[in-house]
Amino acid sequence: MATGGSFLLCPPRFYGVEYVINPWMEGNVGRVDPNRAAAQWADLRRQLEARASVELLEPQAGLPDMPFVANAGLVLGDVFVPARFRFAERKGEEDHFLAWAQRASLAVVEPPPGASFEGEGDALFQPGEVLLWAGYGVRSSLHAYPAIGDALDVEIVPLHLIDERFYHLDTCFCPLPGGGVVYYPDAFDRDSQDRIRRRVPADKRIEVSKEDARGFACNAIVAAGAYIANHIGPELRARLARCGFEAIVCPLDEFMLAGGAAKCLVLHTDRPKPQRIGEVPPSSIRERVVELVGHLLDSGLMTQVLDCIDDGGGSFEIEDFRAGLRHDQDSVARVRVVAPAAERLGEILERLIHMGVRVVDDGNVEREARLAPAPTPGVAPDDFYATTIFPTDVRVAGSWLRAEEQRMDAVLVVYDNNGSSAVRCRLMRDLDEGDLVVCGVEGVRTHPVRSSPARDDSFAFMTAGVSSERRVELVVERIAWEMERIRARGGRVVVVAGPVVIHTGGARYLARLVRRGYVQAILGGNGLAVHDVEVSLFGTSLGVDLERGAGVRGGHRHHLRAINLVRAHGSIAGAVKAGVIQSGIFYECVRNDVPFALAGSIRDDGPLPETLMDLCEAQAEYARLARDADMILMLSSMLHSIGTGNMTPAGVRLICVDISPAVVTKLADRGSVESTGIVTDVGLFLTLLDKSLSGGEIVEAEDGGSTC
Ligand code: ARG
Repeated sequence: MATGGSFLLCPPRFYGVEYVINPWMEGNVGRVDPNRAAAQWADLRRQLEARASVELLEPQAGLPDMPFVANAGLVLGDVFVPARFRFAERKGEEDHFLAWAQRASLAVVEPPPGASFEGEGDALFQPGEVLLWAGYGVRSSLHAYPAIGDALDVEIVPLHLIDERFYHLDTCFCPLPGGGVVYYPDAFDRDSQDRIRRRVPADKRIEVSKEDARGFACNAIVAAGAYIANHIGPELRARLARCGFEAIVCPLDEFMLAGGAAKCLVLHTDRPKPQRIGEVPPSSIRERVVELVGHLLDSGLMTQVLDCIDDGGGSFEIEDFRAGLRHDQDSVARVRVVAPAAERLGEILERLIHMGVRVVDDGNVEREARLAPAPTPGVAPDDFYATTIFPTDVRVAGSWLRAEEQRMDAVLVVYDNNGSSAVRCRLMRDLDEGDLVVCGVEGVRTHPVRSSPARDDSFAFMTAGVSSERRVELVVERIAWEMERIRARGGRVVVVAGPVVIHTGGARYLARLVRRGYVQAILGGNGLAVHDVEVSLFGTSLGVDLERGAGVRGGHRHHLRAINLVRAHGSIAGAVKAGVIQSGIFYECVRNDVPFALAGSIRDDGPLPETLMDLCEAQAEYARLARDADMILMLSSMLHSIGTGNMTPAGVRLICVDISPAVVTKLADRGSVESTGIVTDVGLFLTLLDKSLSGGEIVEAEDGGSTC
């Protein structure tokens, strides 16, 4: 009886687990019981012969995976696309499969050069449709498929496999006659799950449980109304029955040891070409070639780039790699980036460009940046390029222009500067209608400043979790030295501080830094100033006596009284001039003409008259004060520090101090040499900084208000 089609099988005479190329094989080398394997395989063969015609391929000694003949290639009509295995261990099988195809008089269409392709293990037709589900991400390359789609004249739907245990598409996906599919959603990335849902109506999508998936329930042979698999749970069995399929369990645990089961052991050889109605839609798969230059291996950049492509749902092929042989030599790599759709490719390339990767075209022609006008004031065109903190060039009229006012999370605007083009970063909200905004990734390159692991002490410093006291002292001493030099050359140190600075007793030390000319601007929120004034008026911070560390009676009103007093004098400066405030950070700011900006928030009491409750205004004021900073000290204020970091180009020295390692990591991780993270109490940090700047003496800061 042969109503169920024709299948090729290969007896498991030389089958075994002799190496490990998938997670199922781990720990199983040499553990196959050949007799049991032979019996299980014979059982499968009998089940199949009752429903379809079976052809046998001679097994070969030394090729233990050859019985998994699904990986031989892909047959449609009289065309055969042979496999090109990813791993050397299976390459020896290729010639035998090719010889079989030639004996069967099939026309052989090779997969494109450089691509790996593991046949019907990864490429599964939807029966009766002109649709090929194309698995990639572990074994087969995404870029194998456009050519295969063209050669077979079928539509390709790429499916990205993201769990190494489901390394071939047929381990987690089985198309059914009648338009249905059985599949395990977790084996695929979100986009691929969406693609399946868009293609297959809900009543025809059978999603299997984790338990079924792990028993290879999706790895099924469908023939003459039967669904044959190693394991089929009761729920799946019921769903299949409702769709008119008879579930047949054929135990194949000896083959599971190598990561294969029913479907892996057969190749469908008589799949007729379906009737095509209309044109096959062109493939959505897109690719570009990128080039990376630098210390690709020791900086970890190569790994980061490949991970980024993979995480973005794409696949890659390294076309060329020239390693720098000496320490001072760069390595160069050319990588082909392939993505399931143009949109995804754009996203991946944008992230790669942020890492300093360049898009190169064949023949190295540099493409111009694509510009589109802002459609309305404050709105960018849809596919705007978003900036980073790194120096960025844009290709306009044949030359690369360096963007001005570099900052993060802005767009690039090309404008006319006295007859020649120039580029600058602008916030979206500041766009005028018609501003020419750079869109997509063509003609954009960045120059990330990277830390070499050996040179950057901040991460080594933080791996210990909490930095040890001695280490803190050493780092603080170096920061003090840098601050001395900045002051001596008339540079700018900007301090971003949170109210914790006051609560931990750091105010007097920060005030001394201001007084002694080490600080050129202070950025904070309402709370910082409120508590600073509260300390100077009442000696408490949020009602807690800073000397004794205990709450004082009526203390809960102190911060409100502080606000009230300042409001009564119109401003902090007013209160200082009236002699009401006689010490503290903001006292010193007023006395020494050090500007500050206080950004408001929803939780602010008061606010103080100086607090900017319009946040766009506050951002602009921060940006104005942070501009041209030589060093930014970020003291225990995550939000204000992130805000400041976003508006600061790479190259500015950043010191981030917080008691929480997570906050320090978040702030200090700008991928650049210039940031140092210090996990410690900010009050302690300021004490040590003050000590270093005072020649090693801990100076009891005078609370009184002398100016220097
Ligand atoms: N050990 C084989 C491999 O890792 C198993 C192949 C299973 N075949 C399949 N179509 N899923 O390549």
